[in-house]
Amino acid sequence: MNLTDRPRRLRADGIRSLVSETDLSASDLIAPVFVDATTEERIPIESMPGQERVPVSEAVARVEEVRETGVEAVMLFGIPESKDERGTRAWAEDGVVQEATRRVTEATDAYVITDVCLCEYTSHGHCGVVEEHAETDPTLTVKNDETLDLLTRTAVSHAEAGADMVAPSSMTDGMVGAIREGLDDSGREDVPIMSYAAKYESAFYGPFRDAADGAPAFGDRRHYQMDPANAREAMREVASDVEQGADVLMVKPALAYLDVVRAVREGFDHPVAAYNVSGEYAMLHAAADNGWLDLEEAAAESLLSMKRAGADLILTYFAEDVAASL
Ligand code: PBG
Repeated sequence: MNLTDRPRRLRADGIRSLVSETDLSASDLIAPVFVDATTEERIPIESMPGQERVPVSEAVARVEEVRETGVEAVMLFGIPESKDERGTRAWAEDGVVQEATRRVTEATDAYVITDVCLCEYTSHGHCGVVEEHAETDPTLTVKNDETLDLLTRTAVSHAEAGADMVAPSSMTDGMVGAIREGLDDSGREDVPIMSYAAKYESAFYGPFRDAADGAPAFGDRRHYQMDPANAREAMREVASDVEQGADVLMVKPALAYLDVVRAVREGFDHPVAAYNVSGEYAMLHAAADNGWLDLEEAAAESLLSMKRAGADLILTYFAEDVAASL
């Protein structure tokens, strides 16, 4: 036996961590936080064990809990007190995200990112203004250009409430450019945009739609979110967002799209974010509850794989648990 190449030599304790190619640290993680204007109490989210919707009055306490684990950044999602056709509560000065942002940025040092979308705020649950009769005619969809103005107002209202960064997630063509212009015109040229640049029409968002009460009342999102079959198209989406002024490029979901994370990493020099979505979280919990895998190890391994694929930042419901165990 003349075996000179023995990779096992470097797997021993002591050398193992010296040759490790990828690390996961709390400073890579962003914890999503759900703020709910319809409640005075914290409400557990059944489909996402360990996650909850908190009232505005608890937003600061919730963010402090996150920060205690070493995670410094949060992404705020809002559940408004009422919904209408155009989602007007999304850009209300006293809206749920605006109120929570004001409180959290005043009381804590957390880095506050806000999700900019209309689906939690519209009565029909779509991510923008829908065409008339869309309810009965499945070929009709969200009106792209009319939606841009509403997204811009929403993003500007978040920045005005103190958001450190805004994250548009509606897959509206031109959303990054419109929001950039709106922010700049209101003197917020320092607020960066993290674009949900390659966001797929995915079955893995199921638990989130319960959590944020944002499932479409009719139809689906395939007219605006990306087809899971496409990777080259992701590069086109990302390039377009870069041209429009995106600062951070997100791929979503993460686990089933690590090839896309890697392609974006190789094709662009901007920071890349991966969103480890609700379904990815729920499925590990479900398996762990059955005793089929170790939750903590499986979660950390999932997040490490996103780093290895090229993600710089990770949005994940595991943020607190993983950070606390690092
Ligand atoms: C809003 C939005 C969604 C998610 C983040 N922002 C839902 C969707 O597009 O249906 C999903 C997050 C998750 O599943 O964890 N547009």
